[in-house]
Formats: sequence, structure tokens, C-alpha cells
Amino acid sequence: MLDGKKSLFSGMQSTGTLHLGNYLGALKNWVTLEDEYQCFYCVVDMHSITVRQEPAELRRKARALLTLYIAAGLDPEKNCLYYQSHVPAHAELSWILNCYTYMGELNRMTQFKDKASKNEENINAGLFTYPVLMAADILLFQADIVPVGDDQKQHIELTRDVAGRFNSIYGDVFTIPEPYIKKTGARIMSLQEPTKKMSKSDDNANASIYLLDDTDTIIRKFKRAVTDSDNEIRHSKDKPGISNLIEIYGVATGKSIEETEKEFEGKGYGDFKIATGEAVASMLKPIQDRYNELIKDKAYIDSIIKNNGEKASYYANKTLRKVQKKVGFPERIR
Ligand code: TRP
Repeated sequence: MLDGKKSLFSGMQSTGTLHLGNYLGALKNWVTLEDEYQCFYCVVDMHSITVRQEPAELRRKARALLTLYIAAGLDPEKNCLYYQSHVPAHAELSWILNCYTYMGELNRMTQFKDKASKNEENINAGLFTYPVLMAADILLFQADIVPVGDDQKQHIELTRDVAGRFNSIYGDVFTIPEPYIKKTGARIMSLQEPTKKMSKSDDNANASIYLLDDTDTIIRKFKRAVTDSDNEIRHSKDKPGISNLIEIYGVATGKSIEETEKEFEGKGYGDFKIATGEAVASMLKPIQDRYNELIKDKAYIDSIIKNNGEKASYYANKTLRKVQKKVGFPERIR
């Protein structure tokens, strides 16, 4: 709770490019929560440097992500959109929480094991304590809910454990957050391997529709999407490729599975793929137009970055000061 309103925190890394799965699975839903919750959406650039980044590229992508948040419909007056690295409280609380998190707990994190095996030449301490920084992100804003994908559930569990441990020593300092995982709504799969989720880290660009792909690219990627060979547009477990396309077509047009099956009865995959590509392209077009306008408006985006960074700092510092006092740091002299 913050100022008598329920609070929500979520973050995204700016590495990689946002794709259709990120939009339909996250951003699009975020927009609907802005009245019910006090919302904080962070560009988690401090998490990004747990793997090597090209500095200019990281900076550019962070700005692109924040701009895309707004283009996708998040009103920056209602939602606090900011950079993690602009709010030092994240790092400060993270240090404190490191001292309340066990090595054994971090050792069990499946994402760490996964990332460590992919970055054997750079298994740094930040990669290991990544979930503690994430706990700090969430707890600084006394978040009641944290919208995340399934893959982040374990990190939210850890956050709850660490917060509970801290509270049991020092009293009610942190709100214990709940993961907010949408049960309904499409799970967007890779266009090339439809049994795998569409992923930012996929090396094959044809597997994902990026939010800023142009219409021709979108249609081309759908034409190349992997499907089975029976040419029947029917949603079924044993037809993962075509089922994925039916679901994507459904969210882009608002049509149900049954309606779509009926609409394309007797037609082939070729027609359906083009129709899906066109539907997705026209769904993304307004976001792209808005993005292209916004990214040129340097003064406006700068003002959002500054104001929202200050707003985030205000709330974060409130929690941080409380924590510092609880653990016994000396009072600040004013
Ligand atoms: N680890 C998250 C991811 O990779 C991003 C993230 C960082 C996050 N801090 C967070 C998500 C806090 C939710 C809340 O998707």
C-alpha cells in the first residue's frame, strides 16, 4: 500500500527488443491496471549489466523501452515509468537485503543456473544476487502485486521469503507481494518452434514479431511460420503452430477460436497466415506511429524521465529510510 492505494511494481529489461508476446502478455494488460493501483514500471538497467552490454546500445534501448511503454498506452501521469539506475535506493536496499538472503536460497534459483550455464566465461556475483536486487525493486514500493511471467515466479517467492524474514525480525516493514499472473489471455509461442514461448533472446528473428517491425516484415514472418502439413485451420493440441496463429489472430481481431475456424473453413494456411499478418500489423500500427512521434520529442521524454525518476525516488526513499533505521544505521543529521 502507498498513500492508501494498492501498489503495483513490474520491470522489464531493455536488452533485446519487445515482441508480440511481451505486448499481449504484459504491456497490454498493464494499461488496464492504472486506475486500481499505484503503478511503477521500471526499466531495470541495473539488472542488464549482469551480462556484458555494449554501453551505447544499452542506453539507446533503455530509452526505446521507456518510450514504447508510453506508446503502448501507459499514461506517464498515472504510471511511474522510470530508470532503475536513476534511483539509488534500489542499490542501497539491495545491499541490505543481501545480508538477509541465504546463499542456499540463491543457489536454488533456476534462472541463475540457466544463465550461468549460458555465460560460463562471466558468472559474476551480480548474476548470482540478481534476485535480491529484484526483491529490493518490489519491496521499495510496498508492492501488493507484481505482474510477471511464469519464469519469474520463483523470484517473487524468494522476495516474499526475504520480506517475511525481515518483518519477523523488525516488525511490519514490507508489504508481502503477490505475483499477478494472468490466467486467461494468449500465451504467444515462437513462430519457428511453436512449442516454445516467443522469447527476446531468440537468435532467430523470424521466430518473433517485434513491436516495431514494419507491415511487410510482419507478413513475411507469418508466411514463414512453422505449421503442420494437413492444411486445416483448426485449434488443437497436436497442431501447436496453427493453434498459436489462431490465438494471435484472435487477440488481434477480437474473434473467438470458433469464429476463426469458421471464417477460414475450406481455406488454406497461406490465406490464413496473410490474414493474421495483416491483423497484427494493423493492431501494432497505432503503437508504432505514436512511438515514432514520441522518440523525436526529446524534451517531452526527458521530462518524463526526470519527473518520474523523482517520484520513484520519493517513495523508494521513504521505505529505505525506514529500513535503515530498523537495521541500526545512524540517523542523518539535518
Ligand atoms: N527479472 C525480471 C525479468 O527478467 C525483470 C525484473 C526486474 C522485474 N525487477 C523486477 C520484474 C521486479 C518484476 C518485478 O523479467
